[in-house]
Amino acid sequence: MLVLGIESSCDETGIALFDSKNGLLANELYSQITIHSEFGGVVPELASRDHIVKTVPLIKKCLYQVDLGLNDLNGVAYTAGPGLAGALMVGAAIGRSLAFSLGIPAIPVHHMEGHLLAPMLAPPAPEFPFLALLVSGGHTQLVVAEKFGHYQIIGESVDDAAGEAFDKTATLLGLGYPGGPAIAAMAIEGDPEIFHFPRPMTDRPGLDFSFSGLKTYVANTWRECGEEPQQKANIARAFEEAVVDTIKIKCQRALKQTNLKRLVLAGGVSANQRLRQAMRQLAEQSQIDLFYPPATFCTDNGAMIALAGCKRLMLGEQAEMLIQVRPRWPLNELNPSESI
Ligand code: KG4
Ligand code: ZN
Repeated sequence: MLVLGIESSCDETGIALFDSKNGLLANELYSQITIHSEFGGVVPELASRDHIVKTVPLIKKCLYQVDLGLNDLNGVAYTAGPGLAGALMVGAAIGRSLAFSLGIPAIPVHHMEGHLLAPMLAPPAPEFPFLALLVSGGHTQLVVAEKFGHYQIIGESVDDAAGEAFDKTATLLGLGYPGGPAIAAMAIEGDPEIFHFPRPMTDRPGLDFSFSGLKTYVANTWRECGEEPQQKANIARAFEEAVVDTIKIKCQRALKQTNLKRLVLAGGVSANQRLRQAMRQLAEQSQIDLFYPPATFCTDNGAMIALAGCKRLMLGEQAEMLIQVRPRWPLNELNPSESI
């Protein structure tokens, strides 16, 4: 089964071809960073317009690379939510109508299921059941993945997502957009002994997160110490350590509570080296197996959508004859036999 995957939920156009027998055949990504960076964040209308321009040429490029044509496809998968409504509509409209024109199934994919499955794009692939930490720009969730399509959220952020906290903190420190990689690079120069930021919600039981207070902490500290470059690096370091440590504490709790022996990291923030290192330590201490995708599959990409779509196609799923998206779509409302 050869599936075309289209990802357009935010500021990246990701296109990929995934084959059930041979795995990932092609993967192309266009990042809109240069378009949005002058505004300090994603401008939804500009995102939608650019997806319109980039999607079809990238589909052609993927097919050309592997010497295949549209008629070789068995299904077209697209991100149907959650995400920016206009941006999602572009991928859904192109994906649904392309599938219709070819007489093949269209498969709507949940963006966070895509992230959750991304570690399966490269060996060793995790087997179900596992605990997943999903940390992206829009979500911070601890998920029990019992089997494919059956996901139970056992903890999540009550305010900002981890990636959002990185992005907002970077803006406060004048580090530009997207903030995660910029903070991580700045933190390397920072002295870990200067500031110690709180680990929110770790002093009480439970698996939920809250990152918005850290942002205020950063703003106050930055104002108090003047705009001194070394202090900026020290703050970036303290912020990154606080986020990583908080996530580690919650994951440790979740592993204990669920007794699961596999931990999967996914989503843009899972590209963070300090987080990966902390999780490797946790895995060793807790004697569990840790999985995370290669960095290119941590952030948004078409490969994870093509993979999730292929799995759903093999279960016989397909969309109705409608172009429909769900900008808000809880992961636990998903199961293998349900279409949107
Ligand atoms: O998964 P993703 O590409 O998009 C969403 O689904 O939201 O995640 C993007 C988020 C951004 O907030 C970005 O700042 C963050 O992931 N990010 C990072 C790193 N790389 C990307 N955060 C921390 N460290 C990184 N190296
Ligand atoms: Zn994402």
